[in-house]
Amino acid sequence: MHIDVVHGPNLNLLGQREPALYGRKTLAEVNAALVALGRELGATVTTFQSNHEGALLDHLAARAGEVDAFILNPAGYTHTSVALRDALLAVQRPFIEVHLSNTDAREPFRRTSLVADIALGRIQGLGPVGYELALRGLVCHLQSENAV
Ligand code: DQA
Repeated sequence: MHIDVVHGPNLNLLGQREPALYGRKTLAEVNAALVALGRELGATVTTFQSNHEGALLDHLAARAGEVDAFILNPAGYTHTSVALRDALLAVQRPFIEVHLSNTDAREPFRRTSLVADIALGRIQGLGPVGYELALRGLVCHLQSENAV
């Protein structure tokens, strides 16, 4: 089982960026915890971050053939990117949308997600633990699919 975790713009600044909203853990720490949890659950976890919309689209297309599922925090592109939605529809891989903060409890424009309705599920507001719950959820989902 191979799950790829994709982080969108500004998530490279985790730890320094608005810590009251996003916490004090760095992206490297979040990713390391996911790789370790993957090992426990029998899943290979790889990670990717970009501040560039096209790089995220290219990454999804390039990796889709090798991975079973994605965990995706599209960050600011959640609310704006039709191209990201189209890329996810094109690659046909299940994904869970994760947000560190509760986007429904912030500015009104953050209540719109252009990917929510095509995600397998959505976790927000729980900080980095949201990624871990997404990983556990995807492993269960993939195991039950393989058992059918
Ligand atoms: C975010 C929420 C987005 O609205 C914001 O643009 C981000 C991070 C989150 O994880 O809470 O960059 O996706």
